Amino acid sequence: MWEILINSIVMKKLFLMAAVAAVTLCGCGGKSTSVSEDKAASDSTDKILIVYYSQTGATKAVAEEFQRQLGCDIAAIEAVKPYDGDYGATIQRWREEVDNNVKVEIKPLDVNLDDYSSVFIGYPIWGGTYALPMATFLADNAESFKGKKVVTFSTFGSGGVSTSTRDVVAALPDAEVIAGYGVRNARLAKAPEEIAEFLGATDFLDVEIESLPDYSDVTEVTENDVRIFDEACGSYQFPLGTPLKVASRKTPKGTEYRYEVESQAPDSTKSSSIIFVIAPDDGSAPEFTEVVRF
Ligand SMILES: Cc1cc2nc3c(=O)[nH]c(=O)nc-3n(C[C@H](O)[C@H](O)[C@H](O)COP(=O)(O)O)c2cc1C
Repeated sequence: MWEILINSIVMKKLFLMAAVAAVTLCGCGGKSTSVSEDKAASDSTDKILIVYYSQTGATKAVAEEFQRQLGCDIAAIEAVKPYDGDYGATIQRWREEVDNNVKVEIKPLDVNLDDYSSVFIGYPIWGGTYALPMATFLADNAESFKGKKVVTFSTFGSGGVSTSTRDVVAALPDAEVIAGYGVRNARLAKAPEEIAEFLGATDFLDVEIESLPDYSDVTEVTENDVRIFDEACGSYQFPLGTPLKVASRKTPKGTEYRYEVESQAPDSTKSSSIIFVIAPDDGSAPEFTEVVRF
């Protein structure tokens, strides 16, 4: 169960991150904009590259959607020894590589980073941060990112936007890293619209942004809040904890909830997280958009 295995690694990283310069971080669940128009990027002097790694195709789909909307260059990172086993085999290999501090070998990329002023980097979340082939790419090219704008994007089972973006800030200290976009692999169909919103909010697309209201004050959960939480999170493959408090707001898509959740590991260690849930107005089932762990 990787969500528990990774906990100690993530906690160690969070301590390191405290020393890292702050970036504006927003999970996909915490978005505060909606988009009514989709136009091409207005600043043609800003040459953009997308570099991504994807093992099973989810991040590739998101990378290709970013490319479609931005009309920019794209390059895929490949491991010299591909992770071509099943999920269990990949978890086992990743675990061994992390434990042994292995730097995963990747194939050379046929791009010159010097040609670009902005680089979007995309990866699956592994153990709360970017996948190991992306770690190699960032370590090998850190100097080339000096002065560049870097935008992260990721796909995941439950979350990892903030933790991975903070790791990118630490890996690329001379770059200007801006808030990452992330999407659960179970919600890939929502990515095109959310990417347009994300790009609009970060000025890469010239779009009209409609401001959304702030969340309400935080209150103790009611029975109805718990029912919505259970509907959104109950079928996830791992338990996501007990909701204690909640705030909400109305958006054009429905009601967004921001739950404060407590979880207990098998060794009784307690941890807190924020879980974002959207309950669409069209009557479809509520779904969680991201778990933000601390
Ligand atoms: C080794 C490994 C570790 C993972 N760790 C996490 C994790 O910490 N959090 C999470 O939400 N998902 C985790 N996942 C799920 C992947 O992030 C998710 O399946 C992702 O969408 C895969 O992207 P891809 O299809 O581009 O490879 C992990 C998957 C693997 C194989």
